[in-house]
Amino acid sequence: MRLFSLDNRLSLCASFVRSGVKLADIGTDHAYLPVWLVKNGVVNTALACDINEGPLSFGQETVNRYELCDNIECRLSDGLKVVNEDEVDDIVIAGMGGELIAKILSDCTWAKNKDKHFILQPMTKCEVLIEYLYENGFEILEQKACECDKKHYTVMLVKHTGHHCDIDKSFLFVGKLDLSDENSKLYLSHVLSHLKKRSLSDKSLLPVIEKIEGELQND
Ligand SMILES: C[S@@+](CC[C@H](N)C(=O)[O-])C[C@H]1O[C@@H](n2cnc3c(N)ncnc32)[C@H](O)[C@@H]1O
Repeated sequence: MRLFSLDNRLSLCASFVRSGVKLADIGTDHAYLPVWLVKNGVVNTALACDINEGPLSFGQETVNRYELCDNIECRLSDGLKVVNEDEVDDIVIAGMGGELIAKILSDCTWAKNKDKHFILQPMTKCEVLIEYLYENGFEILEQKACECDKKHYTVMLVKHTGHHCDIDKSFLFVGKLDLSDENSKLYLSHVLSHLKKRSLSDKSLLPVIEKIEGELQND
């Protein structure tokens, strides 16, 4: 069976997964990401988890179609609640809101293990997720952006370091994006136009907007 391609958003998530690790894909739905990573030899095993039986059965169908039942286990799980610490190294949580991703991390008893890498791709409220991360001793190691079907997305590689970092409000929106990269600039310009709309009813955003405009012009 010919392997599908991942779209730019899932490709960017895949690019952060370390070679040879035990992977968990939380909110896997169709299980494209773990199937693609196993088929391409990036990882040998994966847990494909979803809270809903419907999406999980789509995931199981993909796993069956590519004959990966020995490599990928589809598991019903709310976040990481039924995933043990020793079962995974890299955890992808993609395609959900930033608040839900933060809740999944806060509900996970072992998320503060410094060896674990979290690859996070919030669809909304990225700033809420970044605030949660920095209030709880996590750090963004790397952050990139991409365009997919004319929409802009960001993906963060995160781990718990326990360090206390002071961040300002603009960091909640800019994060660790490298603004010499065109995709990061486009993503941030898109965020900026949202912020401008929000600032019509929330004037406290005006200094944040000014700072982000300055950062975009500097690069
Ligand atoms: C929009 S899909 C994203 C699929 C895939 N991760 C992607 O990025 O293309 C979101 C999936 O997350 C699942 N989901 C929502 N809340 C969840 C939770 N607390 N734990 C696990 N899965 C969850 C949904 O059932 C759905 O299948």
